[in-house]
Amino acid sequence: MIDTLLDRTIAPGYSRLGLALRKRRPGWPADPPRMDGQVVMVTGAASGLGLAAAQGFASLGATVLAVARNEERARDAEQAISGDVRGVACDVSSVAALRELAETVERLDVLVNNAGVMPGERSRSVDGVELTFATHVLGPFVLVQALAPVLEASAPARVINVTSGGMYTQALRAADLLSEQDEYNPKTFYARSKRAEVVLTEQLATRLAGTGVVVHSMHPGWADTPGIRDAMPGFRKVVGPILRNDAEGADTIVWLGAAPEPLQSTGKLWMDRAVRPTHYRFGADEDSVDTREELWRELERLAGAVV
Ligand SMILES: NC(=O)c1ccc[n+]([C@@H]2O[C@H](COP(=O)([O-])OP(=O)(O)OC[C@H]3O[C@@H](n4cnc5c(N)ncnc54)[C@H](OP(=O)(O)O)[C@@H]3O)[C@@H](O)[C@H]2O)c1
Repeated sequence: MIDTLLDRTIAPGYSRLGLALRKRRPGWPADPPRMDGQVVMVTGAASGLGLAAAQGFASLGATVLAVARNEERARDAEQAISGDVRGVACDVSSVAALRELAETVERLDVLVNNAGVMPGERSRSVDGVELTFATHVLGPFVLVQALAPVLEASAPARVINVTSGGMYTQALRAADLLSEQDEYNPKTFYARSKRAEVVLTEQLATRLAGTGVVVHSMHPGWADTPGIRDAMPGFRKVVGPILRNDAEGADTIVWLGAAPEPLQSTGKLWMDRAVRPTHYRFGADEDSVDTREELWRELERLAGAVV
């Protein structure tokens, strides 16, 4: 009851208070075990939640492939994380760069699609795709498919897509999935792409069912990362004192990557080590089966357009 109330009232549950209260409740899942010998890839690992998650995995003994947008940021990540870590440069909004990245990986137990953006103006990837969609949806679609053989060979394996609670406000935009016909609004486009990431998670989970690879999404609540500081200074000014720190925001990413419980299901949305609904009663409506299938076809088309 308390947990559900925290979730539905949003501000308390998404803040550091929500995590602190949940941790004290009976039934809070045990901390994850060691991961010696396992390989984890985290995108957006040079700052914020990605850096904290990468450090969390490295502290559990995993080998971490810390993916950052260029060589300089990859070096930043490598220097900031203590443990067995290798910085890897890759623009995760680029289809070709992701395919190249996948070619270099021989073993992978956990893939965390964490890199995120909220540009102030409409921006495009090198492939010409609107940047929030390219980074949060097309990128994970391409990377998971390219790495699927390696993940399957390393099974049991996990994919974790980092979405946002903002997605509760948005449905997929049927017949205009890339929002090309809509005026750009950073928060709306960001939230829409994060909704699509949750739908994609369910679709990937269905397609990978039975292979030993589970696919989950999670949202971190509100954490005081460089991303929040740059993209939402007004929001940060108001809720600054109750924001989670980076490690608190990354807690469920690391738990999903290492704990035994997440291997028992697939295609779920998690927050604070518990499964959450993908829709709230007062949020966006469920997307139709047709729109969801349209999303998959659009992703195939966009990925196929880059050879
Ligand atoms: N913080 C929160 O409260 C919150 C809430 C909900 C969801 N999230 C999600 O959590 C994830 C992490 O965000 P954060 O808050 O930690 O923000 P952040 O500090 O800005 O981290 C995002 C990271 O992604 C990297 N990145 C962006 N585009 C990339 C690209 N094309 N190729 C490679 N790397 C790229 C950034 O690299 P550069 O630094 O080099 O640009 C940065 O290191 C995002 O998916 C975000 O949407 C965060």
